[in-house]
Amino acid sequence: MNDGIFKEEWLEKAKVAQSRAYTPYSKFNVGALLITEDDQYIYGANIENAAYPATICAERSALVSAYSNDIKKFKAIVVITDSEEPSSPCGTCRQVMKELCDDDMPVYLANAAGKVIKRSVDDLLPLGFSGKDMEL
Ligand code: THU
Repeated sequence: MNDGIFKEEWLEKAKVAQSRAYTPYSKFNVGALLITEDDQYIYGANIENAAYPATICAERSALVSAYSNDIKKFKAIVVITDSEEPSSPCGTCRQVMKELCDDDMPVYLANAAGKVIKRSVDDLLPLGFSGKDMEL
């Protein structure tokens, strides 16, 4: 990925995040690396639960961790899986990114083989609902 923003080292860091996944049920490990505006790394992984809906996805783990540490400005997020093609965030994660990230923030979808696809938050949730829609 050569867009003048993405750094190859982000892939290695995203793999570190992925290695922290807790997935006794799906065995599908997802890592999310959130890059802050001042280049700090926030790690997120999917953390599953025997009561399946209590599972939290990697993307939301990273964002919740950042907000919990009073970090709210982000440059990009990298999501990595072991799937043959880079996999794409679920609808709930798209909605949470819409809430907590800029619409034009890059979302890099990657796989273990090093393939990277770039999209923005807005690409992933076009015409998404936000607080702006509630302004009367
Ligand atoms: N998962 C994520 O971590 N992120 C997504 O956007 C899609 C799904 C996780 C949740 C669950 O632990 C596993 O992948 C299978 O759905």
